[in-house]
Amino acid sequence: MKLLYNKSSDRLLFPAGFLWGTAISSHQTEGGNFNDWTEWEIKNAKIKNQNAKLKSWPAYVLNDYPNPLQEENYISSRACDHYNRYEEDFDIAKKLNNNALRFSIEWSRVEPREGEWDQKEVEHYRNVLRALRARDIEPFVTLWHWTNPVWFAEKGAWLNKEAPFYFARYAEKIVKELGNLANFWIILNEPAVLVSSSYWRGLWPSQKNGFLASYRALNNLAKAHNLAYEKIIFLKPQSRIGIAYNFIRFEAYKENFFNRIIKYLADYLNNHYFLGKIKRKMNFIGCNYYFYNRIKFNLFHPVKSLKDNENKFVSDIGWEIFPKGIYHILKNLKKYNLPVYITENGVADAQDKYRADFIKDHLLWMHKAIQEGVDVRGYFYWSLLDNFEWDKGFWPRFGLVEVDYKTMERKVRQSAWEYAEICRNNEIML
Ligand code: BGC
Repeated sequence: MKLLYNKSSDRLLFPAGFLWGTAISSHQTEGGNFNDWTEWEIKNAKIKNQNAKLKSWPAYVLNDYPNPLQEENYISSRACDHYNRYEEDFDIAKKLNNNALRFSIEWSRVEPREGEWDQKEVEHYRNVLRALRARDIEPFVTLWHWTNPVWFAEKGAWLNKEAPFYFARYAEKIVKELGNLANFWIILNEPAVLVSSSYWRGLWPSQKNGFLASYRALNNLAKAHNLAYEKIIFLKPQSRIGIAYNFIRFEAYKENFFNRIIKYLADYLNNHYFLGKIKRKMNFIGCNYYFYNRIKFNLFHPVKSLKDNENKFVSDIGWEIFPKGIYHILKNLKKYNLPVYITENGVADAQDKYRADFIKDHLLWMHKAIQEGVDVRGYFYWSLLDNFEWDKGFWPRFGLVEVDYKTMERKVRQSAWEYAEICRNNEIML
């Protein structure tokens, strides 16, 4: 793709046909789901709520609804009611000049009991896709965004050696039913993040922890990806298939021997190990980028070596904003020789203080990577809507669009209009 770069007029143009979108996921927005997270949320809400009482919270968080001191914050329940309001939400995306949208199919809706398909739910997703097509918005369909049907969880989820088979059967069903309405498929969302939080640290469902469990789950997820890829390509050879992977930029606090070794290992394990297992079975890389970690070797607390950030600008959930990281990540992806889409990049910013600049700064660095030959073809801001942020609950506000969780009213934030201008013009004005 040829990039038009017009230095004299202080405009950075993006390649023709560039996709500008936003991303959402089923469990975080739909409401009314019944999966392994739903059960876990109900069991854990009280304790999460009690732990939150031990911390201090800024007024803008406490004045919001729901806030961390309320138990309902931790239970997804109606979420954004996107299941019933998807048309309204897609109208907003259209008004914001988006020409692409990433969403996920909820496996537990489509296959609520093992091997039994709910055709009503399949039809629902067919309507979702039709609604996007009717608005000229290109769908990027994610097949798995962390949640599992309860029957699958009861069978041991990603520790069961049959897991890749169960998953591929579901992928096959979806592509058979919906394949004529979508070209882009993201098989898995951030498998390593799920494994690290669920199987390594034991914090998320299904709360296993240890090295062996993590190793087995990660390998099963890679097998599931590869098997699903084969099924999809067989059914619909022209499909574009990828992953949405969370890349972390690692920087050394000081370029010394120990920092460099840890940086190398962290980069390999987090950013490249999994990709290495699926690299022959994808047509594009979906890059989710949020933050960087600065490495400072600590002999007495080796785990602490992994994060010694400056924290000059941090989001509401404490993630340091580091736009340049996206550039390094993209440059490192060049070796895979595949098109790249930024499938997530966003900030929790309830007061909308940073969001417009956050987007612009990341786009500037992304633009530089494109100029230097990385084939980036699209950008999806996370997220279109405020939504249910997993174990943190509703209080972190990532949306371009604010959601009032009492009335379900949507309100477009100022930063969204700024992003809409970029989408409309396919360029950034400096
Ligand atoms: C996940 C999203 C999540 C976002 C912000 C990504 O890791 O895919 O589901 O909401 O980060 O934490």
